[in-house]
Amino acid sequence: MPDSSNEVKSNDFQENLNLADINVGDSERENKSTDMLQQQLDQLQLQEPKFKFWNTQPVPKLEEIVTENTYINTSVAVEKVQQEPYNLPNGMHWNEIDLTDPGELKDLYTFLSLNYVEDNDNMFRFDYSPELLQWILMPPGWQKFWHLGIRIDGSNKLIGFLGAYPAHIQVYEKDVKCIEYNFLCVHQEFRSIGLCPLLIQEIIRRANLKGIFQATFTAGIIIPKPIASCRYWHRSLNPKKLIETRFSSLKPKMTMEKTIEHYNISKAPLQNIIPLQEIHVKSAYKLLMNHLKNYKLYPLFTEAEFKHHLLPRKNVIYSYVLVDEKENVTDLCSFYNLPITVLNHSIHKEIKAAYSYYNVATTISFKDLLHNALIMAKKANFDGFNALDIMKNDPSILKDLKFLMADGFLQYYLYNWKCPDLSRNEIGFVLQ
Ligand SMILES: CC(C)(COP(=O)(O)OP(=O)(O)OC[C@H]1O[C@@H](n2cnc3c(N)ncnc32)[C@H](O)[C@@H]1OP(=O)(O)O)[C@@H](O)C(=O)NCCC(=O)NCCS
Repeated sequence: MPDSSNEVKSNDFQENLNLADINVGDSERENKSTDMLQQQLDQLQLQEPKFKFWNTQPVPKLEEIVTENTYINTSVAVEKVQQEPYNLPNGMHWNEIDLTDPGELKDLYTFLSLNYVEDNDNMFRFDYSPELLQWILMPPGWQKFWHLGIRIDGSNKLIGFLGAYPAHIQVYEKDVKCIEYNFLCVHQEFRSIGLCPLLIQEIIRRANLKGIFQATFTAGIIIPKPIASCRYWHRSLNPKKLIETRFSSLKPKMTMEKTIEHYNISKAPLQNIIPLQEIHVKSAYKLLMNHLKNYKLYPLFTEAEFKHHLLPRKNVIYSYVLVDEKENVTDLCSFYNLPITVLNHSIHKEIKAAYSYYNVATTISFKDLLHNALIMAKKANFDGFNALDIMKNDPSILKDLKFLMADGFLQYYLYNWKCPDLSRNEIGFVLQ
């Protein structure tokens, strides 16, 4: 894992930091103190030198109490933006990856499948499929210019990547045009030599060149300064496999049989839930956008973006609706498929994990809606279901549905924007 100068020294904290993205659903860890985040922040305050890179960027200081909702640096005319790319170390060059080209898509897939986020014990690694990468990195308005790779001269080997795409978000009472950046990754053999700041600065420069001066992203680590922090919760659907892979563990005094029975889930949905289809788009879009107004941070999807993000795609995004007699959508639930590679296991190679996306309940309880999502995920052969404790994913509902709190936190960040801290239930935004 990264050997950054800000690495938190306590193993306990580090475990929580590093596991934030791969949220191991380990029941043994569920009772860890929920004020861990404060402790992590306190630890970070004690470290010197800290945030050599981030201290140079337009972001609030970690200890700053922000009361305004506004930009930090003013936008400049595109002609005033640095026109030349940032310099890379000798022997490396920038490269835009063409995700419409099957060979380049596969190259990126392979790079990420070998180098992207792992848990702290190096037992699991995210395995974003090529289709999932296209879904996330190519929403309406995507540009190859923002699919930024670093390659080695000569061999052309891909050793770094950062992808971005346009996003329009509501932050409190203001709407902010930004890029969302994702898949920040440096090859394991090229870490700690400063490629990460270069990727971030170059993607920001490329956003500036297109007249965009703000960015949003999420990360498991704490850097200056999260606008919000939330946690993943995990619901076992195939406990036997999850225990065999050590993704979760058998609780004391529980047998495998009892555990399987505990997590058993009915095969039929509770209501007449059906896959979201093209004909539902208009009313489902309206339903979601109306609902999102309840939060202080949420995406301002256009209808085309809603279609891109929510219409079902095989093995990528699963969306279901309830409709009334006039075919109006009254309730919506959705989750995406993010497989996790099991490293070094003789039998199991992959965990099929569902991640909760956008859910709106109006004619049934939110708990029933989420329960339906679990049933549909089980039917689709998922091994586990993960949800952030944002929006209406209230811990009490999650507990009732047999979710366990997973390790680590996920932080939300804005770049070149500051706003007062948000609590988890004020967030209506999911970054995949
Ligand atoms: C995250 C990763 C790209 C960092 O690369 P690296 O070579 O270790 O880092 P570098 O030495 O180049 O740069 C360190 C700087 O990057 C920052 N950084 C590290 N991870 C970051 C993240 N996820 N988001 C933003 N900044 C990050 C560090 O805070 C540090 O800046 P600082 O000195 O101001 O604190 C690399 O460890 C990696 O690919 N990890 C696996 C994938 C992953 O975890 N990606 C992040 C997903 S959110």
